[in-house]
Amino acid sequence: MRHPSRIGFAAGVLTRLKVRHFRCFDAREVDFAPGLNFIVGPNAHGKTSLLEAACILLRLQSPRVTRLAHAIQHERRGFVVDGHFGPRHLQFYFSRERKKLALDEVEQKNAREYLEQGRVVYFANSDIELVRGSSDTRRQFLDFVAAQRDGTYRQALRDYERALRSRNLLLKSPSPRWREIAAFDEPLLNSGQRVIAMRAQLVAELQPEVERTHRAISGAREKLQLEYVPGAGEDFAKTLAAAQKEDARLRQTSVGPHRDDLRFALNAQSSAFASEGQQRTLVLALKLGAAHLLEQRFAAPPVLLLDDIFGELDLVRRAALLAALPAAAQKIITTTHLDWLPPDAEALLIRLG
Ligand SMILES: Nc1ncnc2c1ncn2[C@@H]1O[C@H](COP(=O)(O)OP(=O)(O)OP(=O)(O)O)[C@@H](O)[C@H]1O
Ligand SMILES: [Mg+2]
Repeated sequence: MRHPSRIGFAAGVLTRLKVRHFRCFDAREVDFAPGLNFIVGPNAHGKTSLLEAACILLRLQSPRVTRLAHAIQHERRGFVVDGHFGPRHLQFYFSRERKKLALDEVEQKNAREYLEQGRVVYFANSDIELVRGSSDTRRQFLDFVAAQRDGTYRQALRDYERALRSRNLLLKSPSPRWREIAAFDEPLLNSGQRVIAMRAQLVAELQPEVERTHRAISGAREKLQLEYVPGAGEDFAKTLAAAQKEDARLRQTSVGPHRDDLRFALNAQSSAFASEGQQRTLVLALKLGAAHLLEQRFAAPPVLLLDDIFGELDLVRRAALLAALPAAAQKIITTTHLDWLPPDAEALLIRLG
């Protein structure tokens, strides 16, 4: 077992994480090592909460909930997540009233430089929803990776969501005035087209990575294909103009990237027909493919946060999955039991409870 005191300032490695008033933690500090880390403990001891905190620290987003307020410890005003990533010190305070970001103790006016520091791929058993669930889940996945792939994505998405909200608000009024509504068409189209282009590019870049990873972990000859399905059709400007009647009837904007989807096919057959095992393998390939893509683009692997994904696998599959994880990446893995880990495994254990 590696000892935390031997950890240096390796680039791309989260070495120390401190949380305050975060979920079940009043205050807690954890050291991580490069390579393999296991957070071990019984149910409801805060394993997933620590992974979530690591994700929020690096990406300012939770993989579990869209509202960060959920992560504030009950009866508290706000939480702090604080950590060292490579040589940089990241700090984030969040309350319902305000957010505060600091990089090396210098308060940041915007999140741009802060978010350029660390990248993350998060994987939990609930990610099976990427295949089974609604298109929201798949858009969230695309957004999470796209924002890491391109620093301008987050702003484009925010601009789009703002224009969409304003346009929808006007469409809801008892007698919608089209001249006012049309004033939002330009910002909606501009930001929407940027979002569409970046999502399409992401899916195109993911395809070979995901396909290769899928082949490696499934051992099968099936070909996994991703398809980006734009909710704006071929040409957003044209579909928006053509949807005017429909928008008036529905009292909301019926076309655009807020209706995007991502489709999966195994040997040209929809993933809806895939078996449980095939669906799980598909999702794993998607996540690991995203990790490979980010690693290539930034010449450093993202931190892999894996929530309890070994629990449902037999010993052979556990070993195969461990071997398939990107070798150079820091991996933080939660589990309730470690009896299956080989005693000579080079891993840092963090015990809760
Ligand atoms: N906002 C919050 N304030 C206080 N406690 C919370 C909050 N959110 C969740 N909790 C509690 O935190 C505890 C730890 O939850 P967490 O999901 O991190 O546990 P876990 O160790 O991952 O458990 P499991 O092995 O079952 O997945 C739970 O008891 C949960 O009820
Ligand atoms: Mg958990």
